[in-house]
Amino acid sequence: MWQLLPQTALLLLVSSGLHAADLPKAVVSLVPSWDRVLQEDNVTLQCNGDHPPGNKSTEWFHNGNLLSNKDSSYFIADARVEHSGEYKCQTNLSTLSDPVQLEVHVGWLLLQSRKWEYKAGEDVHLRCHTWKNTFMHKVTYLQNGRGKRYFHENSDLHIQKATADDSGLYFCRGLIGKKNVSSETVNITIRGSISPPISALFPWHRVTFLLVLMLLFAVDTGLYFSVQRNLQNASSNWKDHKFKWSKDP
Ligand SMILES: *[C@@H]1O[C@H](CO)[C@@H](O)[C@H](O)[C@H]1NC(C)=O
Ligand SMILES: *[C@@H]1O[C@H](CO)[C@@H](O)[C@H](O)[C@H]1NC(C)=O
Ligand SMILES: *[C@@H]1O[C@H](CO)[C@@H](O)[C@H](O)[C@H]1NC(C)=O
Ligand SMILES: *[C@@H]1O[C@H](CO)[C@@H](O)[C@H](O)[C@H]1NC(C)=O
Ligand SMILES: *[C@@H]1O[C@H](CO)[C@@H](O)[C@H](O)[C@H]1NC(C)=O
Repeated sequence: MWQLLPQTALLLLVSSGLHAADLPKAVVSLVPSWDRVLQEDNVTLQCNGDHPPGNKSTEWFHNGNLLSNKDSSYFIADARVEHSGEYKCQTNLSTLSDPVQLEVHVGWLLLQSRKWEYKAGEDVHLRCHTWKNTFMHKVTYLQNGRGKRYFHENSDLHIQKATADDSGLYFCRGLIGKKNVSSETVNITIRGSISPPISALFPWHRVTFLLVLMLLFAVDTGLYFSVQRNLQNASSNWKDHKFKWSKDP
């Protein structure tokens, strides 16, 4: 019976390995997509993962702590600094998502971007966001300290077909009433187009998994035979021993 144990363990390993590999990762997305917001903004996090029929239960984690919310959306009204941090989610037919970082800032003005790293050729979308969407005018977006674009009334900045020259440190400023306010500086990177890595085209992880399986099987089989041989040796030694022993007196 004990000889079967390694095989059973192997089977369990195979089934759990396949099981985990088959389930897709859940994905957290922010709506709207800004990952830094001002205090008192509303933020919705959405969890995209498969559910078994009839159960839409979703688990949410904030900085590793399980939240009580079980909906596929997590709504944060009037964001506060304590809402900052790492969010992850999981559904019954998905594995734990990658984290999404949310930063809640205090201040009059915040420069937001759809992403912090764009690929060359993409459109860059920046927003000079005021606290509680307070009216602001005479707004300038600056890149590396130089004015890039001026708007008489606050508007988002769209840079079409960005190139490496659009990379740099950005901030925005303008007038709220008579107050001249500036945002903090952010780093925007535009990367040259990179061809997809080979690993994205060829399923190396599956090959590795199979190789590990074959190795485990070989080791297991080897162990089985060596244990059996040892047992045979042991029993023949024992016979010899008994033989000598009975002859001794
Ligand atoms: C935020 O959500 C609350 C309701 O929870 C709503 O009253 C308020 O208008 C929302 N604020 C914005 C800026 O959408
Ligand atoms: C759905 O899942 C939750 C936990 O995620 C569980 O408490 C509940 O009983 C399940 N409901 C059904 C109908 O299976
Ligand atoms: C999956 O469902 C089980 C039972 O319904 C529940 O206990 C568990 O919490 C669920 N998992 C998630 C991630 O919702
Ligand atoms: C705000 O102040 C900066 C200098 O700190 C100045 O260059 C800029 O013109 C001012 N903005 C407006 C709209 O007056
Ligand atoms: C901006 O980010 C890029 C890429 O992450 C980095 O190489 C560069 O040094 C950063 N620039 C500054 C001024 O932090």
